[in-house]
Parts: sequence; structure tokens; C-alpha cells
Amino acid sequence: MKNSAISERKNQSISRGVGMTTQIYADRAENSEIWDVEGRRYIDFSSGIAVVNTGHRHPKVIEAVKAQLDRFTHTCHQVVPYESYVRLAERLNGMLPGKFDKKTIFVTTGAEAVENAIKIARNATGRPAVIAFAGGFHGRTFMGMALTGKVVPYKVGFGAMPADVFHAPFPVALHGITVADSLAALDRLFKADVDPARVAAIIVEPVQGEGGFYEAPRDFMTALRKICDQHGMLLIADEVQTGFARTGKMFAMDHHEVAPDVTTMAKSLAGGFPLSAVTGRAEIMDAPSPGGLG
Ligand SMILES: Cc1ncc(COP(=O)(O)O)c(C=O)c1O
Repeated sequence: MKNSAISERKNQSISRGVGMTTQIYADRAENSEIWDVEGRRYIDFSSGIAVVNTGHRHPKVIEAVKAQLDRFTHTCHQVVPYESYVRLAERLNGMLPGKFDKKTIFVTTGAEAVENAIKIARNATGRPAVIAFAGGFHGRTFMGMALTGKVVPYKVGFGAMPADVFHAPFPVALHGITVADSLAALDRLFKADVDPARVAAIIVEPVQGEGGFYEAPRDFMTALRKICDQHGMLLIADEVQTGFARTGKMFAMDHHEVAPDVTTMAKSLAGGFPLSAVTGRAEIMDAPSPGGLG
């Protein structure tokens, strides 16, 4: 099989809206290497965009999945629950930063985790508005897209966006935006656009991924925590891309002095299988009534 021949078929059969970085069709992958359908071997620096942090087909992951396939594939946890859901929730609750009781829910994709984090934040605070940052990426569903701070290619032609989403500039020294600039812009936002008493949450990537790999400075994160505490807003860390040791610590927020109220996770949580999670302060996570999440 030739990459070019599959590429031709792809052009005829798949929407061009699904953009592609390469035209190398994967045949198999092992640890940090991929072989294409023509037998060429590549070093995979992308890890499926931070999805296989422990390498392709990590033996422990494959073993766990095989064992599960021999037992059951789906019962719907809301109908017939299973212990592994509880066990993983317990592990995440114990691992995430913040010395407070935590609870977790599992969903399927990063965008879905973000959607649920916003639902939970709105429910817990009784407030509608959300603040995100320019250059941030939070997914391609409607709320994920609205929160994403990049028009091209993520929003163009897909309006109208959900209301009550506001963006502030992210501090990036390379772009000449200091922490003070970002905080001043937030202040302007509160004066010109949205009453802070209407804001449910600020959502931030501890390291912007899609935006260009920019770390949130420590004093910026500390200032966001302070603003949230001052106005009764929640701080949501979107760790979909930064989680599970991508930044050298288990979570990127482990590099900071402050903890978020809610964290979204996906990607390397399951090493290549579709699983995402929202973990947060127990009382916040318990705000939605039974059936509101799932
Ligand atoms: C920070 C962040 N949030 C959310 C998402 C969306 O995740 P998914 O593509 O699994 O919906 C991504 C995906 O790259 C991401 O990097």
C-alpha cells in the first residue's frame, strides 16, 4: 500500500475540515516509533498530541485493555456501575493538587471534560459567565469552541457562539504581553463587559498548547487564584494536554503554588483510549443533581 494512494482515497471520502499535518499513514506503532504503510520507520515526537505520554502500546495499558475486553465492554455506569470507575476516581482525587476533598466524573473526550467543567461551575456558583484566554484551546464542541481563543481555524464559519464567554490576553513575553498587562485587561473586562459577580469561572491552560507552548507565569497563576477568591469565581485548570507528566510533574499545576478548584483531563489519562475526567472540590462536584452529569 502507498501513502499517496490512501491520500487520494482520503480526499474523496473524508471532509477536508479534518485537517492533517502529515500524509504518512500509520501501519503500526511501538513506544516512540511509528511505521508507515510503506514500511518506513519514524520517531514520533507528537505522541498523538500528548495522548501517548507513556509511548504507543505501553504493555501495561495493552494488558489492562485485553483483560477488560474479556470481562465486559459497556454497561453504562449510570445503569450498572463498576468498581474500576470508583478506583480511578479515588486515584485522581488523591493525586491532584489541593489539600481538600475531591470528587471526579469520567467522560470521553477533552472537549467533553471542558463542557462538564463549565456545567459544574455554573451549577455550583449559580453564575453564567466564563473567562478564558486568547490563544487558549479548549476543544471543538460549542462551549469548547467558544472558550477557545483563536478564530482561525476553530470558530470561523461556525457561529453563533454560546453567550457569556469572555477572553483576556494571556501573558506571553514573546508577544510583549506581561503579567501586569493581562491582569489590567481582566480588570478592564470587569469594568467594561461583565460584572465579576456574574462570572462562574476562569478557565486556563497552565501551559498553552495549541496557542504556541506558552507557560503561565507563576505570579500570573497566583494572581488568578486571588481574583477568583476575591470574587467567588472558580479556577479551572485545563490539563487535557499538560496532564500526566507532560511537563515533568504529574500535573502542570504541581509547578504552581496555588491549586485550581476544578481540573479537566483527557489524552494521556488513558494512553490512547478515549477517556477524560473532571476532578474538583467535592462540594463543587456535588452541585449538579443526579442525572445532570453522565
Ligand atoms: C487544553 C486542551 N483542552 C481541550 C482539548 C480538547 O480535547 P479533545 O480533542 O479530546 O476533545 C485539547 C485538545 O487538544 C486541549 O489541548
